[in-house]
Amino acid sequence: MRIAVFASGSGSNFQAVLEACVSGIIKGEVCQVVCDKPGAYVETRAERAGVPLFSFSPSDYESKKAFETELVALLKEQQVDLIVLAGYMRLIGPVLLGAFEGRIMNIHPSLLPSFPGLRAVEQAVDAGVKVTGVTVHLVDEGMDTGPILAQKPVTIEPEDTYETTAAKIHRIEHSLYPETIEAWRKTAEERESTWQNEHS
Ligand code: GRF
Repeated sequence: MRIAVFASGSGSNFQAVLEACVSGIIKGEVCQVVCDKPGAYVETRAERAGVPLFSFSPSDYESKKAFETELVALLKEQQVDLIVLAGYMRLIGPVLLGAFEGRIMNIHPSLLPSFPGLRAVEQAVDAGVKVTGVTVHLVDEGMDTGPILAQKPVTIEPEDTYETTAAKIHRIEHSLYPETIEAWRKTAEERESTWQNEHS
């Protein structure tokens, strides 16, 4: 399975997915990183790991349609099977969604549908909830909507801050994302072989 990771920030989830591919937890490889924030640390991680990087500024394009059309061409050329969003701070538009239907995954630092959108960890701490968590879901046109694939809870203790809660969440993310990607791959493979059998 060929994976493209989209990120806008530090890229610790990119790193976790990459390492899971190298160690065989995911039967696949990260063949492309896409970053919409030139200079973000994920770019350094990609370069160090020798993973092809496409770095772009959306403001250099006249529309989302224009840069997504270029991205689709690149991803098709790279024969990408799955797009993994890892802190990509941008809604996916119809061009990418149409080209990779059911093949775009996102990770969000809350138990969706609670606390969608930006600053989800802060939203949960501010709300005073005792349990938040991590959600992996397929991407649709909404913000942090789409079918949920996996969730794990994280407790917020009275002494926890934004930072300590975020650190707990990141720890969970780094194992949950690879596990969910591999589970998705297996299901897709099974679906494909059932289809082949039924049509042979
Ligand atoms: C993660 O917390 C993820 O849930 C959210 O963005 C953050 C990205 O972190 N979508 P990193 O850049 O992978 O370290």
